[in-house]
Formats: sequence, C-alpha cells, structure tokens
Amino acid sequence: MANRRIVCLPGDGIGPEVTAQAVRVLRALPLELELDERPFGGGAIDAHGEPLPPETLAACRDCDAVLLGAVGGPKWDGAPVRPEAGLLRLRKELDVYANLRPAVGDGVDLIIVRELVGGLYFGPRGTRDDGTVFDTCEYHPSQVERIARRGFELARSRSGRLLSVDKANVLDTSRMWRRVVSGLAGDYPEVELAHGLVDSVAMNLVTDADAFDVIVTENMFGDILSDVAAGVTGGLGLASSASLGDGGPGIFEPVHGSAPDIAGRGIANPTAMLRSLALLLEHGLGEPVLARAVEAAVAAAAEQAPTVDVGGSASTAEFGDAALASLQVTVG
Ligand code: NAI
Ligand code: MG
Repeated sequence: MANRRIVCLPGDGIGPEVTAQAVRVLRALPLELELDERPFGGGAIDAHGEPLPPETLAACRDCDAVLLGAVGGPKWDGAPVRPEAGLLRLRKELDVYANLRPAVGDGVDLIIVRELVGGLYFGPRGTRDDGTVFDTCEYHPSQVERIARRGFELARSRSGRLLSVDKANVLDTSRMWRRVVSGLAGDYPEVELAHGLVDSVAMNLVTDADAFDVIVTENMFGDILSDVAAGVTGGLGLASSASLGDGGPGIFEPVHGSAPDIAGRGIANPTAMLRSLALLLEHGLGEPVLARAVEAAVAAAAEQAPTVDVGGSASTAEFGDAALASLQVTVG
C-alpha cells in the first residue's frame, strides 16, 4: 500500500492542542503515513497575510485527507481578512459539498448531512446605497440532488429512514429543495423519506433526539441543527465532522471553534478531534477497522480520563494518554 498523505492544519486557539492528540494517535496506527503540517487560519494571516496561503491549498489538493483543528479568535475579529474566510474557501476549493455530522451519546445516534458549499453562506451579498446589508440564499437543483443522494445512500446503510429538513412553507429555495429530494425517492425504494420544517425539527431535536436517524439539509439549517444535536449529546467538545466531495480529499474536523476562552490552558476536550480522526480513517482512507479501533479507544479514554467540560479533571494530554493506552490494546 502506498504511503498515505495527510495534510494537517492545526489552526488557532485550541486547534493545535486537540490536533496534537489526534496526531499522536494517528502515528500509533499501523499505517504508512506522510504527515504534512501547514499554516492555516489566523496564524497564517499573521505569517503570510492570508488565511489559506497558496502552498497550503496546493498541499490540500494533493493529499488523501485533510485533518483540521479550528480557526479564529478575538485577535482577528475586526480584521479585514478573517480566518474563517480561509475555512469557507478551502471547503469551496475542494468542493466538499457533503458535511457529515454525527451526534452520538445518551441513547442518541443520529447523523446530519449538511450541504456545505452553497446557500446563504456563499450567495451574493452586499450593501445598498441606503445602508441595507443583504446576504442571499441560492441553490441550483443539481446542488440539491447531489447532497440528497448522499443522504439517501447513508440512510440506506443505516436505518432506512431519511428526514429532509427545509422551510418550504416560506422559502422558494426550500420548495425547490423539497421537490428535488422527493423526485429522487423512487431511486431509493428501500429508504422511507419524510420532510420536516427546520423550526419544528429544532424543537424535536431538543425534546426527542433519540427518534432521529439521518437528516439531510441545506447549509445554514445544518450548521444550526448540528450544534443543537451536539448540545443534546454532551456538548461541542464531542462533536466531529467529515466534509466530502466526489473523489478528492475530504476535510475532517471537529464542529467546535478555537475556544479562545480556554485556549492555552491544556484543558480542551480532544474527543471531537479524535472522532474526526476516526471519520478520516473510515471515509478518507477507507480503513473502517482502524476507525472502529480509534472510536473504542476514545470511548475508553472518556471513561478513564474525562476532561473538565464533561465534569472530569483530566487535561487534553492525559485524555490522549488514555486513548493511546487503550489503542495499543485494541490494535495490538
Ligand atoms: P467555540 O466552539 O470555539 O466555543 C464555544 C464554547 O464551547 C466555548 O465555551 C468553548 O470553551 C467550548 N468548547 C469548544 N470546544 C471545546 C472543547 N474541545 N473542549 C472543551 N470546551 C470546548 O465557538 P465560539 O466561542 O463561538 O467561537 C470561537 C472562535 O472560533 C470564533 O473566532 C469563531 O469564529 C471560531 N469558530 C471556528 C470554527 C472552525 O474553525 N470550524 C467553528 C466555529 C467557530
Ligand atoms: Mg457552526
């Protein structure tokens, strides 16, 4: 098997702290690896004047998978170029349109399939002469079709139930979304399709998260609903994500940001990052057995060395130690 090339973008704040634990675990796996660490985010703005330097983008295009920490922080909040712009651009450049966000814990095992490169976050925006500021939500039916197919395929591999979320009672983009998704249902006879409105789905996620399985939705609704799902399954410290395109490298990163309020103290929970590493192994490298081993090691570490955010007292590194110790047992 040829060497696998992983580009590592630790980023800002707690990004490098949690990424360091993922790299320790990755290096302990029986894989031939080339790990290439690159500047990205606020640190890259300081050093190179832009959040996604051309060399970083080139390295990302030319690898098997991107492991990303988090970017941003108060230092760059008022700046003309923001670290988060690098994140959006990287997603767009790699065309990773399908963002998988599992939420697991407490009897809940659901996954949100979020459209990642269209909608309100990418539509035309501006300021009118009278000072009005606007962002616009646009989708082409082909963008809806490709993300919906991901949702159907994932549903087929799980419970066979797919919930498509929109705001079709108000938005034209949502009415088109619903029409396109419904039109594909015939291609997936084994999947039972249902539709929900985003506001009521948000409420039901809070009250009945265990009733959900696979949810497919547009960019902003998915952004918000996945944080709600993270909240009801133990918080942002646990929530992982995979961003996938068609064939090219995927981006694997925690849902959380750079957590400036706890950065530099060595207390961040690396669970979300390590679970993202498991997604990388499964979807980025096609190594489901190693993915399961990492998930098991993370579950063991969560028992033995819980971090402060989940009521424990272990440091980030102590959690990593516990995960590594269990991993050696599991992988042998
Ligand atoms: P955040 O996710 O960084 O933090 C929210 C809260 O959750 C904070 O109290 C934080 O301490 C806690 N938290 C997050 N991850 C944690 C972990 N692993 N362990 C323990 N506690 C954790 O969101 P916030 O504060 O809204 O944003 C901070 C910065 O991060 C901003 O600049 C924002 O733009 C950026 N951001 C970047 C993202 C990314 O790189 N993908 C995603 C979200 C925000
Ligand atoms: Mg978010």
